[in-house]
Amino acid sequence: MINENYCENNKHSLRFKKIHLQGRDVYIYRKVTSTNIIAKSLAANGAPDGTIVLSSFQTAGKGRFQRQWVCPPGKGLLFSMILRPDIDSQFIPQLTLLSAVVVAESIQKICGCEAGIKWPNDILINGQKVCGILAQNTFSGSRSEFVVLGIGINVNLNKDQLPAECRETTTSLFLTTGSKISRFELLKQLLTIWDRHYHNFLQSGYSYLRSQWLAKNITLGRIVSIKKDSYTLRGKAADISPKGGLIVVFPDGSREEYLAEDVSLGKEEYNARF
Ligand code: BTN
Repeated sequence: MINENYCENNKHSLRFKKIHLQGRDVYIYRKVTSTNIIAKSLAANGAPDGTIVLSSFQTAGKGRFQRQWVCPPGKGLLFSMILRPDIDSQFIPQLTLLSAVVVAESIQKICGCEAGIKWPNDILINGQKVCGILAQNTFSGSRSEFVVLGIGINVNLNKDQLPAECRETTTSLFLTTGSKISRFELLKQLLTIWDRHYHNFLQSGYSYLRSQWLAKNITLGRIVSIKKDSYTLRGKAADISPKGGLIVVFPDGSREEYLAEDVSLGKEEYNARF
């Protein structure tokens, strides 16, 4: 069902169209600061689980570690989903891992190319990043009140439309396949796959998530660099944890769990010291 009327969202004074898609409300904007910001405001005002905020363009798209997420108008799939899972806040990172599984599978289905997950939630094609995910949790006590899951996929960008500073490390679906991809078809596919995985996750929890994530991950077994404030650690990515963390083994045999660090994949093959 499509509500063709553009409405006014008082808080942000932006025009949007509201449609009903696959059992959920979807707010469609031409331009916003960040879909995560709009989604948080809607969630704080009671928007239900599954509500989506979609925009063609963001003027202040946010990435992890306070980075910017930049994408030219109409070229990316940029949206945020409101979730209200009945789980303890410490397990919210599991939702981020789950969303990475969903995006990787959707890209594979729509484009026919292998997409892998770099912990925790970057999606890479042939080693280049095509999607980033930013989950923001609002909690009350130890329980999560709502989560805003922001997903940005580089869909129809040319090489020169990728941010100059990461042109070598990022890509788009268009650059990978040589074909223009419908952002709306990709969204519909993604929501169908999300519903299946989210349902199974709510029923079976971490064991389900773990098996799905392991099947799509390209991190475990690799040498990783973990950036700290004034130094960088190097170890081997060994496993993920129930908190959604990455377990890293160091040359001295010690193991550490990292929950939200900036991790990059080394180019080296498996190192015999480990
Ligand atoms: C990252 O790779 O650091 C995460 C990037 C997340 C970007 C998406 S785009 C849609 C949503 N709105 C935002 O401001 N950020 C997320």
